Amino acid sequence: MISSASRSPMRSAVERLSRSFDECRSASTPHFAYCPTTMQSDHVNQGEVAGVDRSRLERMRRREDATFRQRTAASERLGRRARLVMPSGVPMAWMAGLYRHDPMFVVAGEGCHFVDADGHTYLDMNQADLSASCGFSPQPVVDAIVAQAKRGLQFLLPVEAAIDVAELLAARYGLSHWQFTLSASTANVEALRLARLATARTKVLMFAGHYHGHWDEALVDGTERETHAELLGLTPSAAAETVIAPFNDLETVARLLANHDVAAVLTEPALTNVGVVQPDPDFHQGLRELCTRQGTLLIIDETHTQMAAWGGLTRAWSLQPDLLTLGKSVGGGVPLGAYGMTPQLAEFMDRHRDDDAGEAGLATGGTTYANPLSLVAARAALGEVMTVDAYSHTQRLGGKLADGIDAAAKRHRLSWRAHRLGGRSGYCLEAELPRTAEDAARSLDVELIDTRRVYLANRGIWEAIASAGPAVSFAHDDGDVATYLETLDQFLGELTAGP
Ligand SMILES: Cc1ncc(COP(=O)(O)O)c(C=O)c1O
Repeated sequence: MISSASRSPMRSAVERLSRSFDECRSASTPHFAYCPTTMQSDHVNQGEVAGVDRSRLERMRRREDATFRQRTAASERLGRRARLVMPSGVPMAWMAGLYRHDPMFVVAGEGCHFVDADGHTYLDMNQADLSASCGFSPQPVVDAIVAQAKRGLQFLLPVEAAIDVAELLAARYGLSHWQFTLSASTANVEALRLARLATARTKVLMFAGHYHGHWDEALVDGTERETHAELLGLTPSAAAETVIAPFNDLETVARLLANHDVAAVLTEPALTNVGVVQPDPDFHQGLRELCTRQGTLLIIDETHTQMAAWGGLTRAWSLQPDLLTLGKSVGGGVPLGAYGMTPQLAEFMDRHRDDDAGEAGLATGGTTYANPLSLVAARAALGEVMTVDAYSHTQRLGGKLADGIDAAAKRHRLSWRAHRLGGRSGYCLEAELPRTAEDAARSLDVELIDTRRVYLANRGIWEAIASAGPAVSFAHDDGDVATYLETLDQFLGELTAGP
């Protein structure tokens, strides 16, 4: 195992989590640490985790780690070459911090399977953190890209596909006007800038356990009383501009909004980056009412939850955001971010655009944002892949996956519960589902998650990102779910087999 500390100047997620785990063995007071996409509870559970013997877990992990290293010799060779030209041997340093081992290099993918540099095929249960949920090479998207490539890749002028995509999104999400970026992070950045200008306020309220991308204010966590930057290299002022409340806690939100300095509340409909945290039945209605009363705009981030239902949870739950942000699978696997807004905000944006006459306007845009390739890909994905029928398919499979996880836990006498959010499931290690990120973090045990992940990888199943899935994509079928559940059953069988 190569220590991530030696490979990255940043305190990487896994290093942080591994250290937390070591610390928690001797800690006398429980605490927990958030990290964007890999989190864990540091709660004290010395001999056992949620019904599982830690020493058995540790033995299995060592064995599986050794097998994984042997299986990935070609990736390791590529990693050695890569380190000569890229920090940490990866094109994006974050990739190096996600796992204890070097990342696998991938050579190809199709449907819900990909092949690594060592020639192993994996059934994918994470879809690049829900950015490849249309499948790795969906035919309508491939055809659209090929056709557009022959007509021109980039103009910095609008193409008709932009209107088509805006119309498709408006029909799904109920917001009339749309803008495009290249990622969900940048969609959130622009949505917040618009909210700031429209409200003449600067602060943003997010919920503990949130993740809305790699930008300064969003990489802040804490409590109502204290906020801090989660990573290094961020401007310290970001922590002063972000206020944090526990999810499902309308009283705290009411208190924080009463200061009249919060431009926007930015939230997912259900938290998805700390396992899954579902809203209380009255939470969203209360949130909407508080925002309206206090003049704060409501931004709903559907980047992950767009996979839960056609039109996202905004449509499924009749939410009424002022702005809605998207990224990941909306481009069918091609980079695209988007944000939708009400007609009032569209008109406001129109009046505040940057113009060449020298009048400063709202800060938006990037040279390659809204490029034709991303837009034709999104048009094909939305029109031909992410259909109402396709969502019914993933919802049915997701239910089957969650039922299977519940049944496997029961069979092995573990009082765990499966998460249920469309095609996505996951593991709650307690009998009660979480209401806050603090509750959810108790189920993010890095040793258990990591051992399961490597065990599955060695048997041809890839379940990446500690705080995510498993999840099915539009490309999965019943057989794929059965394969996952059979291998999970083997894993739990061995894990609970006694000393
Ligand atoms: C809810 C949510 N919003 C935004 C983002 C940022 O997406 P990207 O990294 O593609 O910009 C993520 C990424 O995981 C996310 O989960």
